[in-house]
Amino acid sequence: MSDLINQHYLLTEQYNNAQKLEARIQLHQRFSTNTYDWQRWVFDHLTNPPESRILELGCGPADLWRKNADRIPENWHITLSDFSPGMLQEARQYLQGTTQDFSFQHIDAQSIPFEDAHFDAVIANHMLYHVPDRAKALAEIRRVLKPGGRFYAATNGLNHLRELGELVIEFEPELRGLWTVGDTSSSSFKLENGEAELAIHFSHVHLHPYDNALVVTEVQPPFSGIYPNMDLPSLISGSCFVEGSFTHPSCDGSASASLSTGVSPFPRNSR
Ligand SMILES: C[S@@+](CC[C@H](N)C(=O)[O-])C[C@H]1O[C@@H](n2cnc3c(N)ncnc32)[C@H](O)[C@@H]1O
Repeated sequence: MSDLINQHYLLTEQYNNAQKLEARIQLHQRFSTNTYDWQRWVFDHLTNPPESRILELGCGPADLWRKNADRIPENWHITLSDFSPGMLQEARQYLQGTTQDFSFQHIDAQSIPFEDAHFDAVIANHMLYHVPDRAKALAEIRRVLKPGGRFYAATNGLNHLRELGELVIEFEPELRGLWTVGDTSSSSFKLENGEAELAIHFSHVHLHPYDNALVVTEVQPPFSGIYPNMDLPSLISGSCFVEGSFTHPSCDGSASASLSTGVSPFPRNSR
């Protein structure tokens, strides 16, 4: 089984706390060519009424809400959820003291403990590719959405961090399971195939691409938090990425990687 959907691995290694995820987020924040903040961009697409019940699945450390704290409508009642107790605890700590109506719940996306037609919106960003039975999760999401409610899901494109993945796999083959580099199988949920999969469950699907690339001009500390056992500085000094292509050995210490990601709001119809 791929580590990407291995729940034991995800719970005990990747998402037992937010440390590795935060390191990846920092990498993106520091070296993205698109300077418009990703979470601000996601929030721009939320079109819920001023009074709404919202569920976020796989909320991680609550970045979406922290980054948009200045503009969350006061009558949005937001349930943050994650299947990792550690993540949920960090989300709770980060949002402590805010006046917004946040609640926190331990939820596996495959079984959502709410009644039918409860939410105006469900958000699942960068997490559906971790869910082993995605059809079950999507059916659950649809079930808890009110008629006319919306589902928002962000995911990565096929070429997301392709060059970095190829490099990492070359030196640490056991990390292969975490990268779906060039994986065109229908088992992974990507920008390229996600739309068709969601159309099975939702009447209207819209894809909003967010164009970005990473141009990494330092090796430490960003990579060290993500791959603590790898000697990436020496690895990268022997090879480098230029404009998305992998080249040897004219390295100036910089690395650039393709990054494609996006978000889709999916209105639920009444079928
Ligand atoms: C890549 S992080 C994304 C975090 C956040 N949504 C964001 O965009 O920053 C994936 C999150 O999904 C959670 N997750 C993975 N599988 C899950 C599942 N089956 N049900 C609920 N949460 C899950 C992980 O614990 C982790 O917090």
